[in-house]
Amino acid sequence: MKTILVTGGAGFIGSHFVRHILKSYEDYRVVNLDKLTYAGNPENLRDVEGDPRYAFVQGDICNSELVNHLAQRTDMVVNFAAESHVDRSIMGAEAFMHSNALGVYTLLDAARRHGVERFLQVSTDEVYGSLEEGEAPWTEEVCLDPRNPYSVAKASGDMMARAFAVTYGLPVVVTRASNNIGSFQYPEKRVPLFITNAIDDLPLPVYGQGGAVRDHLYVTDHCEAIDLVLHRGAAGEVYNVGGENEANGVEVTRKILNLLEKPEDLIQYVKDRLGHDMRYSLDSSKVKALGWTPKHDFENALRLTVEWYAANEAWWRKIKKSSGYRMYYQKQYGGR
Ligand code: NAD
Ligand code: DAU
Repeated sequence: MKTILVTGGAGFIGSHFVRHILKSYEDYRVVNLDKLTYAGNPENLRDVEGDPRYAFVQGDICNSELVNHLAQRTDMVVNFAAESHVDRSIMGAEAFMHSNALGVYTLLDAARRHGVERFLQVSTDEVYGSLEEGEAPWTEEVCLDPRNPYSVAKASGDMMARAFAVTYGLPVVVTRASNNIGSFQYPEKRVPLFITNAIDDLPLPVYGQGGAVRDHLYVTDHCEAIDLVLHRGAAGEVYNVGGENEANGVEVTRKILNLLEKPEDLIQYVKDRLGHDMRYSLDSSKVKALGWTPKHDFENALRLTVEWYAANEAWWRKIKKSSGYRMYYQKQYGGR
């Protein structure tokens, strides 16, 4: 049996990855270390709770004693744990520096001390900065140019991972993915926020003129890429993971409204995000050369996502009714 320590496994992408590993490898155990911040939700993994190959530990990746204890019995680490929402990082970035920078260091150091055979850092295309229309997609070779507090903290984690690979020869790999969509995504990110608002006939707050472009990746395609890089990626290397599904804010919003048969007058243009990155685009040839290809185009990914939120109202209504969510929503959108 091999043991994978998955951190942040109670969040959106991490919960899909835990499920993917348990389904794909009979001889793997998964230990899920998650602090259960506002974004961590044990309900995301109800279906695997009874699996004897799965264990949950509530804790912080910055807790060196705990992380070293777990690393003793770990073959591989896959680090999803992070503060992940750009708008929250603009409100205040301390928690982002804690989890996305110091947390990565704490995990890397424990992995080194205990001879972990593979460490995968889950990162983001945001570390590359922002592209203009017509500029070529980013390859893994371009210099990092993060521009918001979230992406700066993530880039710190990437750089520390690189330092551990170069300095200590730790077998680290890094993946940098584009905007994930799918089930179990906390409804603060654009796609689940707009779907759930539209279901309730509430306004969809589009930042600025809705011209910012994002690439979209279905969450299960991302998990398959991480699995491949974990097992077949070259130590010390970075792999971009993009869906080749670029769309701007207006296009994404209209598609959501069409799928739900809701009117376009739900769109409300609001004050732009500070320092808004205008375009992300990835060249994913390197991970494709390992044998990965995304199975979902944007239409299919978005349709599956809309269908899931429409069929799982209890999951998101509980979140949207909570006082923490309502306070955040008022702070973020109240004066916009
Ligand atoms: P999420 O916010 O849904 O989940 C993050 C999880 O990490 C939560 O369960 C939370 O409780 C946990 N966590 C946070 N800080 C922790 C800490 N200090 N110790 C232990 N657990 C902690 O995030 P997500 O969207 O699933 O993103 C997962 C990872 O993927 C992040 O590292 C993010 O930067 C990266 N990423 C996300 C996307 C995306 O589109 N969502 C794209 C590319 C990369
Ligand atoms: O690209 C990968 C990144 O994608 C991940 O690293 C981040 O963790 C993840 O949150 C996501 O970041 P974005 O900032 O791109 O995602 P978000 O859903 O917050 O915003 C997507 C676009 O939609 C962006 O151009 C801002 C816009 N937007 C967002 C919100 C929340 C709106 O117009 N209105 C909104 O209310």
